[in-house]
Amino acid sequence: MDLHNGGLMSMTTWMTRASFLLVASAAALVSACSGSSGAADTEPPAKTSGPPACKSSGKNAWETYGQKAFLAVNSSIFANVDAEMKANGTKNLGNSFNLVGTGKPPATHDSPADFEAELAAFLVYAYGGPSSITYTDGRSYSGSGIDIVYFHTGLNITTDQYDYFVMSIVVPALTSNGVPMDDVSSCFAPVVTAPAFVADIVGR
Ligand code: HEM
Repeated sequence: MDLHNGGLMSMTTWMTRASFLLVASAAALVSACSGSSGAADTEPPAKTSGPPACKSSGKNAWETYGQKAFLAVNSSIFANVDAEMKANGTKNLGNSFNLVGTGKPPATHDSPADFEAELAAFLVYAYGGPSSITYTDGRSYSGSGIDIVYFHTGLNITTDQYDYFVMSIVVPALTSNGVPMDDVSSCFAPVVTAPAFVADIVGR
């Protein structure tokens, strides 16, 4: 899917996720009420594409948090995966992460270090940042060039594994680095719960 072309804003799927439901309802209320101000003709046109705005800032996640925070969250994602695999083995996330670097299936050909750098670049791009970044190793990594379907093909990731990854790995990585739940719900969750994005990863 084209991450910068409006596919991110589908409210339908992420509103079905219980953890985000309350915040989503509150956001719907706020937006319903804003129409009564009578100032509609003087307001800028609604943003129709690109990553969603954070409640805290009115700007997208990249503009709100910047590269340092994105790299910190990315590191926490990998630390959380390690801890999860040590604590629970393949119970919740399946076997995919044990295959990294093996090349079987081909999606797993990158080394763990490259995987970490590539995920950082992808997240930066997906949340409104530049199409490539200079990572901590001094090398340049392209987020916009990553074929998400290719990189999850042959992994047979299930919906349960995907949901666990988002809720128990990614969300704690965000909150442990200081992102408030309001922003998790408003500007981070919609990107990874958009049906077209999930379909690029689950069941392949
Ligand atoms: C928020 C959801 C997800 C995002 C944004 C995401 C993102 C990515 C990206 C950008 C890559 C390419 C890395 C590279 O170029 O090497 C990748 C690869 C991979 N992902 Fe995901 N992914 C997600 C969910 C999952 C889940 C749920 C699993 C497993 C349960 C998973 C397992 C893997 C594995 C094993 C690779 C291959 C790494 C390698 O090259 O060896 N991903 N993912």
